[in-house]
Order: sequence, then structure tokens, then C-alpha cells
Amino acid sequence: MPSALETDERALRPQSFTPPLGTGDTADYDRAIRRWTRELRWRHAMLWLVAPQPGETIADIGCGTGSFAIMLKQLHPGVSMIAVDPDEEALRLARGKAGRAGLAIDWRQGFADTVAPASAEAVTSSLVFHQVPLAVKRSSLAAMYRALKPGGRLVLADYGRQSGLMRLLFRVTVQRLDGIEDTQPNADGVLPRLIAEAGFAAVSERDRIHTATGTIAILTARRH
Ligand SMILES: C[S@@+](CC[C@H](N)C(=O)[O-])C[C@H]1O[C@@H](n2cnc3c(N)ncnc32)[C@H](O)[C@@H]1O
Repeated sequence: MPSALETDERALRPQSFTPPLGTGDTADYDRAIRRWTRELRWRHAMLWLVAPQPGETIADIGCGTGSFAIMLKQLHPGVSMIAVDPDEEALRLARGKAGRAGLAIDWRQGFADTVAPASAEAVTSSLVFHQVPLAVKRSSLAAMYRALKPGGRLVLADYGRQSGLMRLLFRVTVQRLDGIEDTQPNADGVLPRLIAEAGFAAVSERDRIHTATGTIAILTARRH
């Protein structure tokens, strides 16, 4: 018999989702991210903060075309990498890239709750939370918390609080592609509070990277 909380979370499970480039074409995703987001700057910052160790299981939620999972697995072959995304086309591109690089990654079509409870030492996510509804931001963080072993680490990169010129750039780029409703809470700086409300400890904004599409924040936290 599911508890009332589980029933609520199932009701909040996303039935639909925004694909990688919002209203744009998924085939253009990698080029757009490279050109408009200072991609290597924030992906390397994430990687450094994840600090993967051999034998660890790491799950990337909303992996898209797989760039981060592939980068991590390439540099840390001793890690078991799980990469989850609801979008079939993005996963097809990701599998192709990993296949060409000869990397074994556990690709899964679905949402954060496809990762078994207490199974990962680290959970990562990049550029996902700005394009999901507020209720899904909450339920995804709850599922990521559950997926971690006690003491496990969260590393999240996404558009965070925007101010001044960054707010304007965010408005005319990301918000044009992904809409206002899901993106505005991020621009107002909601992420650290939501992460803490999901039960995480030691929530910290570790970096803020200004890009042509707005400021990307890198946040870390731990499961108790
Ligand atoms: C902007 S892309 C980011 C992809 C990748 N993480 C990266 O860093 O390039 C956002 C991805 O989140 C996925 N997504 C959308 N809603 C999601 C949800 N509720 N849970 C997990 N992934 C989701 C989309 O399918 C898309 O691939």
C-alpha cells in the first residue's frame, strides 16, 4: 500500500517534458550549447566538484545527448555511469556518441526515479531544472535525494539567479526557447532553497558562470 507521500509524488511524476533545446531541434543541441554557454567551463567545474572515485556509481539525471556522462566516463573509466533522460532522440544521439568512443554507459529512458534508492555515491544534473515545472523541480530533487547513498553528493549546474545584463540575456535566449513559467523560478534564485527543502545538507553555490545566455550556477549538497 503506497504512503500518502508516495501517492502525491506519483501524481507529480512528469507525463510530458521539454526536450533538450525547447522548441529547437535536438540535432542542433550540442552545437548550440558549445557556442552559447561556455560549455567546457561549467562542465569542468562540475567534474571537479563530483571528484569521481573508482568503483563509484554516478547517475546523471536529464543527461540529454550525453556529453557530461561521456566526459566523466572517459576521464574516470572505473566509475559505473548511469545516464537518464525521457527524450528518445536525445538518448539515440547519446548512445551513438558513447558507442563511437567505446564507452559503456547505462542509458535509461525516464526520470530521476528510475535510479534505485540508495544506489549512487553521486548524482548530477545539468541544464535540466530551468525547463521543468516547479512541482517537478521538487519531485526530481526528492528522487535524486533517495537515489543517493547516505553521505552521497549532489552536483547540479543550471541557470540560477539572474541579475542586470544576465537577466536580459536569459530573457531573450533561454526564456524565448523554454518559456517563462518554468524558467522564472530559477531566474529568481529558487534552486538552493528547493535543494534544502528536499532534505539535502550543506547546500552551497560553488560557482557562477556568466554566459551569453545568462548566469549558470553550480550547486553542491550532500545527503545526510
Ligand atoms: C537542456 S537539456 C540538458 C542536457 C544535458 N544535461 C546537458 O548538460 O547537456 C535538458 C534535458 O532534460 C531532459 N528533461 C526534461 N524534463 C526532465 C525531467 N523531468 N527529468 C529528467 N530530465 C528531463 C530533456 O529531455 C533534456 O534532454
